[in-house]
Amino acid sequence: MAVLVTGGAGYIGSHTVAALLERGESIVILDNLQQGHREAVLGGTLYEGDLRDPAILDRIFTENSIDAVIHFAANSLVGESMQLPGKYYHNNVYGTLCLLEKMQEHGVKRIVFSSTAATYGEPENVPIDEHDRTLPTNAYGETKLAMEKMMKWFDIAHGIKWISLRYFNAAGAHESGKIGEDHNPETHLIPIVLQAALGQRPHISVFGDDYATPDGTCIRDYIHVSDLADAHVLAVDKLRSGSDSAVYNLGNGQGFSVKEVIDIARQVTGRDIPAVIEARRAGDPAKLVASSQRARTELGWNPVRSKLEDIIASAWSWHLHHPNGYSK
Ligand code: UFG
Repeated sequence: MAVLVTGGAGYIGSHTVAALLERGESIVILDNLQQGHREAVLGGTLYEGDLRDPAILDRIFTENSIDAVIHFAANSLVGESMQLPGKYYHNNVYGTLCLLEKMQEHGVKRIVFSSTAATYGEPENVPIDEHDRTLPTNAYGETKLAMEKMMKWFDIAHGIKWISLRYFNAAGAHESGKIGEDHNPETHLIPIVLQAALGQRPHISVFGDDYATPDGTCIRDYIHVSDLADAHVLAVDKLRSGSDSAVYNLGNGQGFSVKEVIDIARQVTGRDIPAVIEARRAGDPAKLVASSQRARTELGWNPVRSKLEDIIASAWSWHLHHPNGYSK
């Protein structure tokens, strides 16, 4: 039996492929390589194509014995989703519909889904747990929530069981040094801070220091990408053991401000990292921290790379050795 990983050439997808390979799973990857990188796929069989192409899904499901899907393929830039919501509905929501219909047609009954803290929007409570209100404040989060709801109805009607993993802030790189974070454009805090440390940017712009937090900058819960990858493997196991559908938050449960991240990056890199305070970025909640108790209890998930120093050090090692990402 093989696992189909859609978006397996992307940042979190490629680390999950690595985790599946480490335990000897057969893997098939579908990626259109718009955001993903061929070099990030460390093994398995790569099909280059798009979820919205029924022919490639038919080929994958007939040429391989797939018993579970891990679904990453999606656009994931919050800012872009506000400018181009149609792109997000088309690729994310319609793409997921195409996938679920083909799973139903080919009798594949398990899916692990790459979801996000952005499904909650402005939090009611911190730490956020899975019972909290979901009221996305951007189109990206809204499409991810729509995808979760679609899976709920495909479960009720067709018995496709799903586990949705709502990540907080993914960061870091694989311990092998072979794969890491390479987005174009890059919008995430830690890689941008490290690009400033490398001298590739003149400074890091801090988006707002007037939030209601101790130092005025936004607080986030950073989680190592390999810990996230491990959760996907556990979720596949849980579905294979006959579990019902479920939603899990994935974070460390500890928040760090933007200023704290920059200070830790200065210590880890030993470099000067100039920071400039700028205006708030639209749509940023002041504080997002996860309660991942449910994932720990029900999935048996135990993040082991939790120290922010270590997360940033692993990202720094990737950036030092791949200053221009996968393009050498
Ligand atoms: N930030 C800066 N300067 C930058 C980049 C980011 O100050 O150059 C700040 C942001 O304002 C935010 C924090 O750093 O306060 C983290 O920003 P990221 O862009 O790294 O991450 P987000 O918290 O905005 O986004 C992440 C995921 C999204 C997901 C979201 C959930 O990347 O996919 O969490 O809210 F939707």
